[in-house]
Amino acid sequence: MKKTALFLISLFAITFFITSCGGGSQPAAEQTAVKATGPYASLPADVQAMMPRGEEIYKTKCTVCHQVTGLGIENVFPPLAKADYLLADKPRAVAQTLNGSKLEMTVNGKKYTQEMVPQVETKEDAVAVINYVLNNFGNSGGFVTLAEVKDVVIKPRAAAPATK
Ligand code: HEC
Repeated sequence: MKKTALFLISLFAITFFITSCGGGSQPAAEQTAVKATGPYASLPADVQAMMPRGEEIYKTKCTVCHQVTGLGIENVFPPLAKADYLLADKPRAVAQTLNGSKLEMTVNGKKYTQEMVPQVETKEDAVAVINYVLNNFGNSGGFVTLAEVKDVVIKPRAAAPATK
């Protein structure tokens, strides 16, 4: 009688051990799969797809002022890295990238008063570069969509200086 009980208990223990082992390996496999798809894996596919364009724009147009680190230059060019101002309103950041900005603003406790002229021509480019910023420079992620900036009006650019 005692032996049977002992046998049943060990059988149960073995079964439990085997099943829990099997179950345990599942999440590990999933984790590897997520890592393999890169740092933007948690973003929707269409946002992931615009990252190379966003990176290209950032590196060619923004680094001169906001720096390769996204930290800007204190009191001259505001940071985009962990910037409270940027993170508080993503559509506003898209609008500023499109139309420029000439405000007195406080970013992470420092004042900025210089003007930024318009940086890109299309909403697609502005959304791509802001999504790149939101997912780099230590920013915690998130994204902005074209739908969220549908009401932003692209202001006419200043006319090129007359040549004649
Ligand atoms: C010639 C320098 C310059 C360049 C180039 C530039 N910026 Fe700026 N940026 C500024 C300045 C100056 C401000 C502050 C504007 C103000 O006070 O209204 C600013 C502000 C911003 C802000 C709002 C403030 C913040 O910290 O969130 C965003 C967003 C931004 N820039 C994004 C960009 C992006 C994206 C690019 C590249 C496509 C870019 N900027 C290129 C100078 C620049």
